This record gives sequence, structure tokens and C-alpha cells, in this order.
Amino acid sequence: MKTGRLLTPFVSPARGVADVPGSKSLTNRALICAGLADGTSVIENFLMADDTGAMIAALQNLGVSVIAHENGRSLQVAGLSGPPDVSNVSINARLSGTTSRFIVPAVAVGRGKFTISGEAPLMRRPFHDQIVALRSLGANITELGAVDCLPLEVDANGLDGGTIYVNAEKSSQFASGLLMAAPLMKNGLTLHLEGAVVSRPYIALTLEVMRKFGAEILNPVDGTYVVSPTGYQSAIYRVEPDASAASYMFAAAAITGGRVRVNGLSRSSKQGDIKFVDVLEDLGATVNSGDTFLEVVGGSLSGGKFDLNDFSDTAQTLAAVAAFASAPIEIEGIGFIKAKETDRIEAMATELARCGVAVHQSQNGMVINPNQWALRSAQVETYDDHRMAMSMSLLSLRVSGIEIIDPECVDKTFPKFFEVLESLRDTKDFSSETTPVIAIDGPAGAGKSTIAKLLAEHLGVPHFDTGAMYRAVTLACLDAGLDVGNIEAVALLAEKIEITVGSRVQVDGVDVSERIRGIEVGQNVSAVAANSLVRKILVERQRRWAIEAGGGVMEGRDIGTAVFPDAALKIFLTATVDVRAKRRFGESSDQSLGQVKKEILARDETDSSRQDSPLRIAANAVIVDTSNSTIAETVELLGMLFRSEVSQ
Ligand code: DC
Repeated sequence: MKTGRLLTPFVSPARGVADVPGSKSLTNRALICAGLADGTSVIENFLMADDTGAMIAALQNLGVSVIAHENGRSLQVAGLSGPPDVSNVSINARLSGTTSRFIVPAVAVGRGKFTISGEAPLMRRPFHDQIVALRSLGANITELGAVDCLPLEVDANGLDGGTIYVNAEKSSQFASGLLMAAPLMKNGLTLHLEGAVVSRPYIALTLEVMRKFGAEILNPVDGTYVVSPTGYQSAIYRVEPDASAASYMFAAAAITGGRVRVNGLSRSSKQGDIKFVDVLEDLGATVNSGDTFLEVVGGSLSGGKFDLNDFSDTAQTLAAVAAFASAPIEIEGIGFIKAKETDRIEAMATELARCGVAVHQSQNGMVINPNQWALRSAQVETYDDHRMAMSMSLLSLRVSGIEIIDPECVDKTFPKFFEVLESLRDTKDFSSETTPVIAIDGPAGAGKSTIAKLLAEHLGVPHFDTGAMYRAVTLACLDAGLDVGNIEAVALLAEKIEITVGSRVQVDGVDVSERIRGIEVGQNVSAVAANSLVRKILVERQRRWAIEAGGGVMEGRDIGTAVFPDAALKIFLTATVDVRAKRRFGESSDQSLGQVKKEILARDETDSSRQDSPLRIAANAVIVDTSNSTIAETVELLGMLFRSEVSQ
């Protein structure tokens, strides 16, 4: 069995300022422009990760001097003062799409023989549209392997430039690469975008960086760019934090109902992925923005339909957020992400399904149908895709037992991802609170009673079984010959009797511990539990009970939602229907397994659909799936969450 990084849920809302690295897109664009510029540039707040490391190495191979400076916080780049002019250079773009697609045009305007290759997943990604465009400008390009793919050999002898048409239906990176090489073409370049352009904001980003390095570009009509043959001038360039990377931190605030800020970003950023916060806002989060910061405050999340064509790198983030929404979320306009690091739609659908989230894939996107009851612990595959690892990690904020396989793939763009996410954990030690209540809710058969009792023992605090109270009232009704459907009369009786729940259960001083577990009580208790007047009385007593005892472990159906919504720790204990049915079947063999399962499903339906205090997952409750864990493991996990300890 593979092992990965097991993540510990957040028991409190995510809070803080997230230290998001510089934008990959801006870093790699600035590197290309600085590398070709006249003079020495300084790139501040650059991203140091696999993809930018690939670009730095590629430029160094071409003779550009790139050195870290100011304790590694900025880069000093001594430009080539024009196009590369070397012979027989081999460049490995590793897994980096931008590096390969920016470097090929940059060497095509130079002189010499260049081979550009990469790791296997990059070699499978399409290159057709750029090869076609460059050939139309007279570039001499040979595919050394599969047609339209890396490795490519470029036998360069400068380019005159002129006019080209670039299809940008699969990726806008081709057009960006050609635009960045354009100031070095003898006559400059007029570039027309063709097809239904994807990720269009990245083109604006390219132009912004080029202009910072002295390029002159006209944009007479939408989709047409006229670049003058000016070359580049060195500059001091400060890279904004990466909006795609920030999406995970903003999503953490949305999922946990927290508050997360990223400094150095604003809503007016040219990075397309900044629009992700608009989606969060539409879903119910609050977005606060200043000139130099962006902050998301989580609220309850609704559903909706969103076109992410312009900011598709956040599609996986949104799909993960959708797991916690109250209605389906449809993501459209992203069919082209099937050709990214992996088929991102298929990969996301598969991994979300492992965690209990139903996803319907379409040609152009996906629909996520959330059902928090079904959320499960799982080992999550990441397909060499950093965005799979980062987005699926978001499920761990609320669900226990999420293990990310190959977590190191985040190094591609966000090497410190797990540390930064962890820095948003509110590490309050609940055991120092005056009345710490641990609320344990969940459906029948999830293991609540056993686990709550053992957890109370483990922590040395009282245990409160609130179900026993409803059972005690039911028994008193039956003993008094009262119809359990008689709302007022049952409430009057509940008011009158004294119920003591401890290791034994007493009604007016008489021990009824065994009798409340009888069949007749079992058959009538749901009617009593659905009585709003009774609930009011018992909830009040439960609150007093816990406060007088100085807190403890309280189990039931509405503890986190109604009795103690501010409980220190809220747990929703669950397990698959099959596992719960097997457990109940093991306890008594009066019925067949099939019958038990049917009854459990019916019980889930009644418990979650009753008018008053239906069984719901409380805001910020941690969903703990007990299907594949032993009782001892679950007790230990809950104890650890209470002490706010982190497993790794
Ligand atoms: O957990 P149990 O089976 O002993 O609960 C008995 C009934 O009381 C069951 O129908 C759910 C209901 N109940 C409730 O509505 N609210 C609680 N806090 C606890 C139990």
C-alpha cells in the first residue's frame, strides 16, 4: 500500500495571513524578458519552485547569468542584450509547460542549434499550434519524437517577424511565448489570436510584463497585437503573490468559515485567477480588498454554475470547495484542462469520488453534487499534478483521514504549500477552556455511544448521553399510558419528571438503565424526539448539565447544531451505510442484514428530515469516517483533535 501525507482536520476556522509565493506565471515571464534584455534586472519576490527552476536552468544554458541575492529573496539577471547566440544547446524544460512554450520562440529568434525536451508528462502535452505559427515565420523546427510534441530541435537563424495567426483554443501559452520573442524579431510581429481563446487573461499578463521591460505593443482590436522590434531593457520587477496558489488559502477560509488574508494582491491584479474570489463571493463568502491585500471571510456555501474558461487553474480548487456546498456546483468552459499536467477533470472526478463526492463529467467541465453525509476518509492519488495535491488537501480541513499520495508534487509551484496551509490552523488548546464541550453527532451505527464513552474516559471528563434523556421521557410516557403523539401532554410529563443520566439512568430516583433500551421504547422514541416542546425542555437541561459539570463529551444528534453550537470541538461521526448496517447486524440477529440496512437508511432519512433539529453536520464540525478505523484509533484521533495536536 502506498503511503503519503496524512492530514489533520482543522477544528477551528482557518485564520491568518497566508504567505503565498510569487506568481509562477509572472516569474517565468519576467525571467524570459530579463534574460533577453539589455543590462542587469532584479526580480523581487520571485517564485523558487520546479517550474521556475526549469526556466532559470534553461536561461543559464543559453548564457544568461542568474544569481540569487538579498538572502535568496530576489534574483539578479544579467541579460543577453538580444537573442541567444550559441551553438548546440540542450534544454530540459522538466515538467514546465510555460518554460517549454516560452523558450522555443525565444531560441527561434536567436542563432544556433537548440534541443528542447522535458519529462515524460510534458512531452505528451500538445505543441502543435506553436510549431505551426513559428514555421509560418520561417523557423526551422524538427520534431525529434512524436509529431507536434517535444522534443524539438530548432535550427535557428533569426526571424524577420511579420504577421501570424495563432490558434489559442488549447492554450494561451503558445501566443504568450511568441509575443515575448517578438521584440527580438527583425521587423517586430503582428499576432492575431484565432479560435475560441482559452485563459485569455494570461495574454494581458504577458503584455504587462513585456511593457515593464520596455516592449512597445499596440492592441488595435481585440485579439490583435502589434509588437515593435525594440528588444528589452533591464528593469526592477516585483512579482505579485501567485493568485492560483492563493486560491487554496482563500478556499480554506471559505470551507472552514474562517478569515484568510494574502498581502500584495488586490482585486485589480491582472492575474486571471484573481477572479476565483468572485466565485467564492457568489457562493456566500465575503471578500475584502484593499490596494495591497485581499481577504476572504467564509460563510455558508451555496451552489451555482460558473464558467472558469478564463481562470481554469482554479477549477480544481472550486471542485474541492464544492464538496462542502449546500447545492450542486457546475464548472464549465474548462474542457481544455484535460490536456494539462493530467486530465484534470477525470482526475478530480475520480479522487473526489474516493472521498464520497459524486461528480458528473462532461465534455466541457463537471458538476459536483455535494453530500456531506457521504464524505469519507481516503488515500488520494495526485497524478504528478501539483494542483491535484493542493486542491484535494482542502478536503482534509473538515474530513479526517485524507492522505495525499506523492505530496512532493506541490514543489512544482508551491514548495511550502503544506506549511502555509498549516500556518492557518488556530491552535487553541481547548482543555484550558472553562466549559469545554466536545459535541459528537452522527447517524445510527456510526459508533457514537462507544466512542463518546471511551473518549470521555480517555480525557478524564464526564460523558453525557442525550439520547438516554429522550428514551427516559419515552419510557415515562409508556408507563403512564400516555400517547407519545400527544404533544402537550408528553411535554408536561417531561417537565415534571427528574431524569439523571450518568453511568446509570434514573427517572424520579428509579433506575431505568435497562428498560430504556427495550424494544417498545425504541419504537416510540423518535416521536418523542420530534416533539419540539420536549426538545426545548431537554436541550435546556442538557446545557445546564454540561455547564454544572464543567464540560465533557456530549453525544446526540443536535449537540453541535443546537445544544452547544459553540462547542470547543464538534465531531460528525459517520461510516458507510454498509459498515453501519454490519455493526447493527452484529449487535442483534433478529433481522437479516438487508433489513437492517433498509432500516438504517430509513432512520437516516427521518433523522435528517424532521422539522425540529434535524441531524445536520454542524458548521465547522470535523467529519470523522469510522468505516475503516478501529474504535481505539478513532478515540485517539478525537483526543488528539481536542488537544489540537497535529499528526505530522
Ligand atoms: O442515540 P439514541 O439511539 O439513544 O437516541 C434515541 C433517540 O433520540 C433517537 O431517535 C435520536 C433521538 N435523539 C435526538 O433527537 N437528539 C439527541 N440529542 C439525542 C437523541
